[in-house]
Amino acid sequence: MDMTTNYLGMQLVNPLVVGSSPMTADLDMVKRLEDAGAAAVVMHSLFEEQIRRDSRSSVYYREMYADSYREEPGLMPTPEEFLLGPDEYLEQIRRIRQAVKIPVIASINGITAGGWAEYAKSIVQAGAHAIELNAYRLATELTVTGNQLEEDTIAAIKSVHLQVNIPMAVKLCPFYSSLPNFALKLADIGIQGLVLFNRFYQPDIDPETRTVLPRVTISDSNELLLRLRWIAILDGRLDVDLACSGGVHTHLDVIKAIMAGANVTQMVSALLKHGPTHLTRIRADMEQWLQTHGYPSIRKLHRSMQGVEGVDPQARERANYMHVLQSWHYSRSDR
Ligand SMILES: Cc1cc2nc3c(=O)[nH]c(=O)nc-3n(C[C@H](O)[C@H](O)[C@H](O)COP(=O)(O)O)c2cc1C
Repeated sequence: MDMTTNYLGMQLVNPLVVGSSPMTADLDMVKRLEDAGAAAVVMHSLFEEQIRRDSRSSVYYREMYADSYREEPGLMPTPEEFLLGPDEYLEQIRRIRQAVKIPVIASINGITAGGWAEYAKSIVQAGAHAIELNAYRLATELTVTGNQLEEDTIAAIKSVHLQVNIPMAVKLCPFYSSLPNFALKLADIGIQGLVLFNRFYQPDIDPETRTVLPRVTISDSNELLLRLRWIAILDGRLDVDLACSGGVHTHLDVIKAIMAGANVTQMVSALLKHGPTHLTRIRADMEQWLQTHGYPSIRKLHRSMQGVEGVDPQARERANYMHVLQSWHYSRSDR
């Protein structure tokens, strides 16, 4: 069975990519992921704030968040709380490159344009095959318009993209007034891949202590549906590869994402829950499924969903919405 796929200019042995997470900080874990069948790994993100602090002293970092510091001194993580500092991150890229054969995708989380972006050059020199830029920014200011926010984000992405000669993907959140238009702007500046989507970590409140509880929760397959919808809407309309991230837990989740138009899927929660060997199971189950359903390769599966070719996405969306609402039939037992 030909399981190969292309992503960010690389030919991968299969579409199972390990998504950005602390798993890559442990070299032994990276080897286990490769042995289990991972096609590539995305490292956890290094934050713009970490890079700025390193290059321009901690004064800059504190000024950047001066208000936050005044109001809540312990708000920002201290350097010790981050998994790896900027130099250690580069060293980890080199160590992973030496330890495994699969491609290594470095990840940066950045939202402003500036000198810090030069760090991306060091990522290239350290040997990363590609960069994933996580543009996580929540609109919280009353006066900042959607347009401004998008322009700032594009400027940040551009400033990193200018520094690198390796493929770059951008990891997006789902909250744009027009995701297709934003995706088009990214394709226009030469971004080769989009990762759909970032997962929002929604903090809870502890009513006893009246404090915010930062929570990282594990996803389930329900989260996949949002990704499937947007991958299907964007697929084939832009010159970018698509990675599905969020809610990929089973071989059927992978198959659905590829049918909808994803080049690869990224998995984190499922691997944290079941360990690296989950990849081996998923791969075997996929092969079995493809054989049973007469697909000779992943490439044949790619975009094989019926009824999407040539249909105006907006008309399709609206029609689907009407169908869904009409499909609900009231019965006495529902009460
Ligand atoms: C513990 C943990 C750490 C993560 N760290 C990062 C990170 O550093 N950068 C990033 O872009 N995404 C990070 N993510 C998000 C994942 O890459 C992924 O987008 C998200 O978990 C959804 O995929 P999943 O449903 O397979 O978990 C992290 C997720 C978890 C659970």
